[in-house]
Amino acid sequence: MNRLNKKVALITGGAKGLGASIAKHFYNEGAKVIICDKNIEQASETAKKVDGNAYYMDVSNSKNVEDVFLEIKNKFNKLDILVNNAGINGFENRQDLLDDRIKKTNLQNKEIFENNKITSHFDVTVTMTDNEWHEMISIHLNGTFFCTREALKIMNEQTQGCIINMGSVLGTTGGPSSPHYSAAKSAILGYTRATARELASRNIRVNAIAPGYIDTDMTSGLGDVKELVKSATPMKKFGQPEDIAWAAVYLASDEAKFITGQTLSPNGGFVMSQ
Ligand SMILES: NC(=O)c1ccc[n+]([C@@H]2O[C@H](COP(=O)([O-])OP(=O)(O)OC[C@H]3O[C@@H](n4cnc5c(N)ncnc54)[C@H](O)[C@@H]3O)[C@@H](O)[C@H]2O)c1
Repeated sequence: MNRLNKKVALITGGAKGLGASIAKHFYNEGAKVIICDKNIEQASETAKKVDGNAYYMDVSNSKNVEDVFLEIKNKFNKLDILVNNAGINGFENRQDLLDDRIKKTNLQNKEIFENNKITSHFDVTVTMTDNEWHEMISIHLNGTFFCTREALKIMNEQTQGCIINMGSVLGTTGGPSSPHYSAAKSAILGYTRATARELASRNIRVNAIAPGYIDTDMTSGLGDVKELVKSATPMKKFGQPEDIAWAAVYLASDEAKFITGQTLSPNGGFVMSQ
């Protein structure tokens, strides 16, 4: 109920999907929610539902991030929780590309089953453009750094705070059709551990969530691959946004006061570790 009472929480990419669910759960736990997103129309709609505030922010633009955090500092005078959640999967407006990867996945499975030999190839890295690579790294990794840096200008003085970075199981397992995404998500886990060590002396905890496959717009175009993922998941299903939101509530709450530098991975058993 009141696990985040009167905490001020900023969620990037909070307009929809996992970020919107985190916003709702934080609000239900008593937090004041600030949603920062490139999609300001949807961010405003979502903010309205949680009695929160919405700001346009492109997390990959350091000047824009700096300006928005300054505005937030002036308005709220504190920041208790930062959730670095904004992200892309690289297939936005590129269903053709995604369909090709799905086709190749099915083809490879068919080939190995029927001929015990794979002759079709993903060829993702060899065809990837500089822009595709830079955009992915900029939004996920640079964005996490830019927002953390600005948040610390508020949190350091408070000598308390909590930062949650959104990773992915693909940062650990790798994904054959998204080397840039896997690279960014894996780097976020290293960044989480380094900043957790650095900031412990300031009583600022830094943790990551590495979701498995969750039902949001990001996974809605996966087609046949959905069934493959489900069959490779011990729980045989995709997760729901609330499965991630509850993990975020826990990490942000005082119940997790001895937890820092960790990765919590709600994934239905898709990856098991530790
Ligand atoms: N859905 C999954 O299965 C899954 C699994 C693992 C990790 N994740 C990660 O969780 C996070 C949220 O994913 P989701 O499934 O909710 O996706 P989503 O597409 O539903 O939402 C992503 C949000 O991020 C915003 N965004 C994108 N680029 C931005 C930018 N440059 N600046 C600010 N906002 C930006 C979008 O406008 C959108 O509101 C992402 O980091 C994603 O990589 C998702």
